[in-house]
Amino acid sequence: MNGRDLVRSMKAVGSAGAAQRLRTVRAAWRTRRADAAGLPARGAERARVPGPVQDVEPGPGGGVIRFSRSELRITVAVNGAVFWGWDGAAPEPSYALAGHSPEPDPRAVLEPDKDGGWRVVAERVTVVVSRHGAVEVQTPGGVSLRRDLPPRWWEPVDGGAGRWMQRSEVSADARFFGLGGRASGPRLRDGTYRLWNTDPGRAFGPGDDPLYLTMPVQLVVADAATHLVFHDTTWDGTVTLREGEEGAGSGHDRPGSSELRMSGGPLRCWVMVGTPARVLLAWASLTGAPALPPAWALGYQHARWGFGSEQEVRRIVAGYQERDLPLDAVHLDIDHFDEHQVFTVDHDRFPKLPRLSADLRRDGIRLVSIIDPAVRAESGNAVYDSGTAVDAFVRDGAGQLVRGEVWPGESVFPDFTHARVRKWWGGLYEERLGQGFAGFWHDMNEPTSFAAFGESTLPRSARHALEGRGGDHREAHNVYALCMARAAYEGLRELSPQERPFVFSRSGWAGLQRYGGAWSGDVATGWPGLRASLSLVIGLGLCGVPYSGPDVGGFDGSPSPELYLRWFQLGAYLPLFRTHASLRAGRREPWEFGPEVLEHARVALAERRRLLPYFMTLAHLARRTGTPYVRPLWWGIPEDRALRDCEDAFLLGDCLLVAPVLDPGADRRAVQLPRGRWYDTATGRAYDGPGQILVDAPLSRIPVLARAGAVLPVRGEDGGLELEVWAPARGRTGGGLVVPDAGDGWEESEIERYVARWQGRRVVVEREGEDGVSAPPHPVRVRGVEER
Ligand code: GLC
Repeated sequence: MNGRDLVRSMKAVGSAGAAQRLRTVRAAWRTRRADAAGLPARGAERARVPGPVQDVEPGPGGGVIRFSRSELRITVAVNGAVFWGWDGAAPEPSYALAGHSPEPDPRAVLEPDKDGGWRVVAERVTVVVSRHGAVEVQTPGGVSLRRDLPPRWWEPVDGGAGRWMQRSEVSADARFFGLGGRASGPRLRDGTYRLWNTDPGRAFGPGDDPLYLTMPVQLVVADAATHLVFHDTTWDGTVTLREGEEGAGSGHDRPGSSELRMSGGPLRCWVMVGTPARVLLAWASLTGAPALPPAWALGYQHARWGFGSEQEVRRIVAGYQERDLPLDAVHLDIDHFDEHQVFTVDHDRFPKLPRLSADLRRDGIRLVSIIDPAVRAESGNAVYDSGTAVDAFVRDGAGQLVRGEVWPGESVFPDFTHARVRKWWGGLYEERLGQGFAGFWHDMNEPTSFAAFGESTLPRSARHALEGRGGDHREAHNVYALCMARAAYEGLRELSPQERPFVFSRSGWAGLQRYGGAWSGDVATGWPGLRASLSLVIGLGLCGVPYSGPDVGGFDGSPSPELYLRWFQLGAYLPLFRTHASLRAGRREPWEFGPEVLEHARVALAERRRLLPYFMTLAHLARRTGTPYVRPLWWGIPEDRALRDCEDAFLLGDCLLVAPVLDPGADRRAVQLPRGRWYDTATGRAYDGPGQILVDAPLSRIPVLARAGAVLPVRGEDGGLELEVWAPARGRTGGGLVVPDAGDGWEESEIERYVARWQGRRVVVEREGEDGVSAPPHPVRVRGVEER
């Protein structure tokens, strides 16, 4: 939400608005009172460190190392992932893990190291533990990737859980990425990043942190290797990053550092080492394969807060149709609800929603519904009543319902950390399916509850089931949206078993990809917001959530025609391609910015449609390998330092390099090329990387380069699948993967593998199968042969 919008909408509704403002003051006071009564006061604390090593107990994949004041459990899994946990922490229970934690590697053994320390040697990593409890992760060749210094705890003297701190060092050349969706990345500069899902309360830009979707997941890229580190703790905390410096001071390197301070929860961690692809594969096998979206969700989508009526929806849709612009989905925001109440319809303004959705469906357009977790606390509201019957709503320590203030007024909040509540909530989507909705847009699920002061969320003392373990909001907050996504996904699987659920969410946590994707939230309209959009998508992808995208055009205000167009052109190459804007924002239809913008937007839309089979292939590959569709330029070559620092371009799959225009007034831009030959797809001109080139970026398009040798599936003019092939460099071969897809459903499609090579003066493409090579079953179009 947007603070100003809230105030405006309150003004707009007059005395109702005044009443709402009063309720946000009351809600804030209630939170303060609840927390004063319900949370332990911070009293005297005692500091603790592990102390010296005492003895060890070898076990599968590693073992337990006992120190005088703590113990450390280390297990190396068969896939090379390292788990370690202090004070008896085990991998489970965990909200991040997809199933059971991976099997320990029977060949990894715990053995004595020098100076009284111990080490676990496995095929892909070595973990060295010093006698005071520093844990160092090394490559098999003995190069240090990460050294975690002995942790420190501060515990209340009168008992109870404590807070802790862990400082780590990484190599001087390392760069940090990840931590969920961050507006200031994708490379995370020196600073402190908070781990607490937060609605910033206004449209955000690169300076705003934290945002809606945080994760204690860091991807650290260095010359020696890439590693992903995940601290499996849902509590509030901060990460302070400092990049290292090579040859600092006296010629010695200063290592980079990361300092994690958590307000509670277990101190346990997973580390995965290797190439970026290997690391993301291990991460996806740990936390779950990304859900496969239906094909239409890879098309172009139009959302709007404030369509206001069925007629307005039809007017906008007709606008696209009359101009022959592709449109795949329309999203209805809270204004289609009856007084903003979730799972209802305002029948005055949307009298025949099932008819509207059927009409749109006939034209190939799906309807998507916003879903907010807050339920108006009023008997007579069917969702409130059915939720009350299953005791679904969050209560405080005294057993009273926790009430907050959200769009529908005074509200209660489902406790998604309870299986029974997820089941009930998942069943509610039946009403939505009955209205004809095909997809779901989860919002306000940090969760947000408006407060006149303090934090705009539930009281930290609010109680949660936490799968039967019991606990409070300090522990449940960050996984609230993750559990809501699970409820929806599982409910939809039952309600509509033939279809792939389409869910995307504003908030989430590690593992969100199992249920769906994410979107930027309320990104501020402006050039910095455009840049932040790309940062979010790249960062989320590196944390395992490959499907996301921004509000094209920005959430608030009115973009200039140029900014709108540049945003649109970027969006056309991001997984979620959706325009959206606030109630009071200016128009966002492509034809509202003059004929020139319309023509260029049309080109972007057509190109997106043409690339649909490629997007679908990338979605399948993401599901099978964890590799995001949108990848930083260093993806295949993490040791190329110039690429590591390049944040204004990205790879879309293996085949394309997209260089969006992120600054006003540009008609060309510099592009940092990875090694190998690349073709400017607009001019056909070939460039050889590595190095920086200058390419044209007229208003009509953003630069897109194709990798020499690439074979990618595109949609031909007749709607069928075609192979677009970019000539390999002379003397080289190329290739690509294609995953055909029926558009929806669960049928497992076979991956088609193609190779491209020179034969005399021609480039030939062949399909490689188990029983040899064959001619491709699709038409082939070779490019880059004539061109230089
Ligand atoms: C939040 C969402 C935004 C939505 C609005 C009204 O601000 O982030 O996308 O339009 O709420 O539902």
